[in-house]
Amino acid sequence: MGPWPNDPLGPQARSSAEIYWIMFVAAIVVLAIVDGGLIYAGIKFRDRPGHSAKQFHGHNVLELLWTVIPTIMVISFSVLSFERLNIMNDTTNAGMTVNVQGQQWTWLMSYPKEDRFKLNDGTYLQAAQELHIPVNMKVRIALSSKDVIHSFWVPNIGGKKDAVPGRNTDLWIQADKPGTYKGQCFEFCGTGHADMLITLVAQTPDDYATWLKGALVEANRGTDPATKKGRETFLSLACVGCHTVQGTVAAGKVGPELTHIASKKTGIAGGAGGPVNEENLTKWIKNPPAVKPGTLMPNLNLSDEQIHDIVQWLLTLK
Ligand code: CUA
Repeated sequence: MGPWPNDPLGPQARSSAEIYWIMFVAAIVVLAIVDGGLIYAGIKFRDRPGHSAKQFHGHNVLELLWTVIPTIMVISFSVLSFERLNIMNDTTNAGMTVNVQGQQWTWLMSYPKEDRFKLNDGTYLQAAQELHIPVNMKVRIALSSKDVIHSFWVPNIGGKKDAVPGRNTDLWIQADKPGTYKGQCFEFCGTGHADMLITLVAQTPDDYATWLKGALVEANRGTDPATKKGRETFLSLACVGCHTVQGTVAAGKVGPELTHIASKKTGIAGGAGGPVNEENLTKWIKNPPAVKPGTLMPNLNLSDEQIHDIVQWLLTLK
């Protein structure tokens, strides 16, 4: 069992949870007083043998009370909410900024343009769906959208913000403890909306460094000139909609993960396509249904050159 959705595990989420509980308890008290009074009056003053119900008009003390008390409550809630909104909207003094772009139907995470996130080809580390942050660090999320409105939300860490096309918004998140926190796009954005999951991984500085080292190794595969083209071709085609390759923006869940395809023992298509090598991969991508009838992978009608490039790159994914 993961944490309860209303279990704040960061200052941002705690802020919203506090205001939630204050209002919830106040609402329960109001409910008890109002309904309690109603039931009490209904029983005590009802029309019955020996007592006839009367009509009253006007009661200064009562009227004053039920005007003044709710007014004070509403004003208090406003003040408390504004106070918290200010905290939640304050994205200054962040330890780092990650650019997060929503697009149908994935989240593209771009790490800061700092040397520690730099790849061999001069670009910077990117990932899809999964975001790693150091624990106890205020992380600013610069949000944008490529197409329609999406909404970034990791409930336990808090902060929900829409990613609106043509507009840059931001929010900040911070995790108290190391762990994996689940998030979800919160704005219906089309048929793949439910797949727009966010996995937020908060790590201690040591674990973060270890993760980053591995992520850079994975992302650097195929950045050398010989295989770069294949990587770009793969990432520009429909392949990314179905397959996941760690270290790239490909995060599809329909087909098998290809992060380590070159060292896959079972072979291509569960073995139907033979062991993973240049010849078999080429044959497979050229026409999957011909190799394994009924496979979900369609024939994408790629050119021989495209297939060659992709295969060269796939073979580096050890
Ligand atoms: Cu993106 Cu819903």
